[in-house]
Amino acid sequence: MSAFKQIGVIGSGAMGRGIAQLFASAGVEVLLHDSRSEAIEQALSQNRELLERAAAKGKLSAETLAGTLARMRAAPRLQDLAGCDLLIEAIVENLEAKQSLFRELEKLVGREAVLASNTSSLSVTQIASACEHPQRVAGFHFFNPVTLMKIVEVVRGERTEAQVIERLSALAEQAGHFVAVTPDSPGFLVNHAGRAYGPEALRIVAEGIATPAQIDRILKDSLGFRMGPFELFDLVGLDISHAVMESIHQQFYQDPRYTPSALVPSRLAAGLLGRKSGQGFYRYQDGRVVEESPAEQPAVAIDRPFWLDCQDQALRAKIAAVLEQAGAVLEQDAQPSANAICLLTPLGEDASSVIARRQLPVARSLALETFAGFDRRRVLMRQPGLDAAVLAQARQALCGDGVPVEVINDSPGFIAQRVLASIVNLGCEIAQRRIADPATLDRAVQLALGYPHGPLGFGDHYGATKIEQILHELHDLYQEPRYRISPWLRRRVQLGLPLTTPEE
Ligand code: NAI
Repeated sequence: MSAFKQIGVIGSGAMGRGIAQLFASAGVEVLLHDSRSEAIEQALSQNRELLERAAAKGKLSAETLAGTLARMRAAPRLQDLAGCDLLIEAIVENLEAKQSLFRELEKLVGREAVLASNTSSLSVTQIASACEHPQRVAGFHFFNPVTLMKIVEVVRGERTEAQVIERLSALAEQAGHFVAVTPDSPGFLVNHAGRAYGPEALRIVAEGIATPAQIDRILKDSLGFRMGPFELFDLVGLDISHAVMESIHQQFYQDPRYTPSALVPSRLAAGLLGRKSGQGFYRYQDGRVVEESPAEQPAVAIDRPFWLDCQDQALRAKIAAVLEQAGAVLEQDAQPSANAICLLTPLGEDASSVIARRQLPVARSLALETFAGFDRRRVLMRQPGLDAAVLAQARQALCGDGVPVEVINDSPGFIAQRVLASIVNLGCEIAQRRIADPATLDRAVQLALGYPHGPLGFGDHYGATKIEQILHELHDLYQEPRYRISPWLRRRVQLGLPLTTPEE
């Protein structure tokens, strides 16, 4: 397959600039165009600065620097791109603007030239539908910043020729990027897979279970995410994130799995967009979060024994050791004594359901998260009938070794369990719909979203049977199709196979 000889990049903003730098660095001639000539100059000088800085640090030789800079040139007029055999569009995210540009380009370039769009949310097939030769049109979706985010989605429109996909993939690989080939499905691969983490966190807030800051702390400490969902909303901008959620929800014909949060519109109206507006879920001053100091918990005397609803001996010993450090005792009898604080360790169920099922004393029973996260941060889940003094003793007893304790309201799957299960379930749907094979899905999500595991790998790491159990409880309590279990997940649990097991 012949490589591309000259690439034309249209749109010299954040993305176009990065794409030009990426391919010039990979040895291909790049012409950069923009309807605003100053944008071209700005992009070229920014790229020069970045490359010179890298050279000064010894990351590239003087010769490589000179060669790369020479391969990146301005194309002040669109006609200057006539000789290019690949045109990558990175203009404004607007269907009509992209269609009209592609129509212009078709008149200009050779019959064999490939036309690619960096769109993140529009249908590639719809963009291509404006073209005389839609088979040469594909999506080429990079992530920001392009040179550092080493992944690209190569999107196959309904009529895109296979060789176009192969040539774009080869080019991206030559530039050192991981290639995820995806069909033209809403959100493609990555933005689709990302529709569980933030949305489920918003759902938890909307239900009054925990605050955004608590959720961020818990998910980072228990599941190993680098950023909490609300920190991420603030970084990306809630307006941008919400637009993606709305667009995907619309494109899937209001499938409840993708329902955006009703909490968001009023926040947008209030300008609580995140870092860029100085306030989002957090407040910012000089680009830094203004930390809210947590309310001090007054020390209380622990005068009740604890009883644990858990048969796992290793876990019992671990919890007993923590309680002991706080001066508390763990009862070993099958039933709690009349005074005991009952700690439940549910998987997927909320505290109220376990209390009702096990007929435990309402005022003295609460739940402790032990499935996802115990050593860096602990989560206690109260319920509407819990005695406040019991909660205060439980909280104190569980931070005897200095590990912070968060108290949340009743929730099926606490916080980490249900967010994890939502991510895994959505990943399974993506695999089921053949949007990506398991290996591509997991790698793409890790590279583009920075998750510690891909969605399927996450499921296998924590146990697919347990994930299914959590989803089952969520579905049972809410009775909403949002939490319906993906057939991909159910079948692999039934057959005892890893979630990463591919299918023809
Ligand atoms: P940007 O606003 O930084 O740059 C867009 C540039 O296109 C501007 O310089 C503008 O003057 C130029 N432009 C607009 N209409 C034009 C036309 N008809 N002909 C020539 N130039 C035109 O935008 P950004 O962030 O670089 O995004 C570009 C595209 O990449 C959009 O489709 C966006 O959805 C997509 N994208 C953006 C990502 C991001 O994180 N910013 C990530 C992935 C995709």
